[in-house]
Amino acid sequence: MKALITAGGRGTRLRPITHTQNKHLIPIANKPILRYAIDAVKESGITDIGIVVGVDNGQEVERAFGDGSDLGVRFTYIWQEAPLGLAHVVKISQEFIGDDSFVFYLGDNIVVGGIERFVQSFRDGGLDCYLTLARVRDPERFGVPEFDGTGRVVAVEEKPSVPKSPFAVSGIYIYGPAIFQAVNAIEPSRRGELEISDAHDYLLKHGYKVGHGEITGWWKDTGMPSDLLEANRLVLSKIDERIDGRVDSESDIAGAVVIEEGAEVIASRVRGPAIIGRGARVVDTYVGPYSSIGAGCVLEHCEVEYSILMDRVTVRSVDVRIEGSLLGNDVEICRGAGKPRVQRFVLGEQSRVELM
Ligand code: TTP
Repeated sequence: MKALITAGGRGTRLRPITHTQNKHLIPIANKPILRYAIDAVKESGITDIGIVVGVDNGQEVERAFGDGSDLGVRFTYIWQEAPLGLAHVVKISQEFIGDDSFVFYLGDNIVVGGIERFVQSFRDGGLDCYLTLARVRDPERFGVPEFDGTGRVVAVEEKPSVPKSPFAVSGIYIYGPAIFQAVNAIEPSRRGELEISDAHDYLLKHGYKVGHGEITGWWKDTGMPSDLLEANRLVLSKIDERIDGRVDSESDIAGAVVIEEGAEVIASRVRGPAIIGRGARVVDTYVGPYSSIGAGCVLEHCEVEYSILMDRVTVRSVDVRIEGSLLGNDVEICRGAGKPRVQRFVLGEQSRVELM
């Protein structure tokens, strides 16, 4: 069995971060989102992995992950000329997949509990397609399955205004070779994309064996900033304490806190779960629960909680607590000197600031 992981797309909902960075490299608990998909696939025993990237920003993914040898897997990069839909991703990967079965994993999805049991059910059932479902509060945002009286999925409707069940088809699918017949038969939707839900519908209507299983642990599709913070919260809530950096005697650390090598915590209070990245410097600062502080960040005389600070962020002498925030690489927030006391901003396109 092989795996195909997506790392292309537009990432419009995560702008401005995605103006300059591929969304799959955004860190969750200081590891790129894509790494969670790779680890889940690898843990299920698959080592031959295709990564589908867009021609516009795929190079940085290739630079970050290389050929996979240091993770004990083999990556093949498949280049998509434009984000023409998830069924298009499958279509252009036919040569890589060959006659194998494969896990199709959306690289911006995070699942707790692994995927092994789904792979096993797919194999045991002799299926053509296996859908993983998650119970959600807002099914209208997703592909929604419809069941018959015996509990079999009979249709999948994309973003329905009146959902026929409380489930979303999540971003982890398992296919046999029949999926290529489906993706080659369907037509682009009104928004001009080859939709994966249409491919599933094709398989259902043509009598192929489609099974499903429910993700009972936790699943998150990290499309929006609030999803990233929520994914970060969940991943951090499972970390184990590890202090490889330096904590001075005036500091107070409590709860599950990871302090990575070369990080320094001086006269500060850290309340886990939280992670402080390599070479970061935290001085006279409060770092509260569910915070991920990236490598090389400098936090002085400030308070941060429930936030993701990417690499080399500087926050200096800010007396309002920073909460529920996503700060990109090299962002700087500091107190201005002198009079008049004003707020001064240098913000890129589509930045967002909330003032008290
Ligand atoms: P989406 O989240 O549906 O789309 P997106 O990443 O372009 O984001 P937005 O809606 O905010 O613009 O994509 C799901 C996953 O599939 C994600 O990993 C990106 C990837 N993808 C591709 O690789 N190629 C594609 O053609 C599409 C549509 C998505």
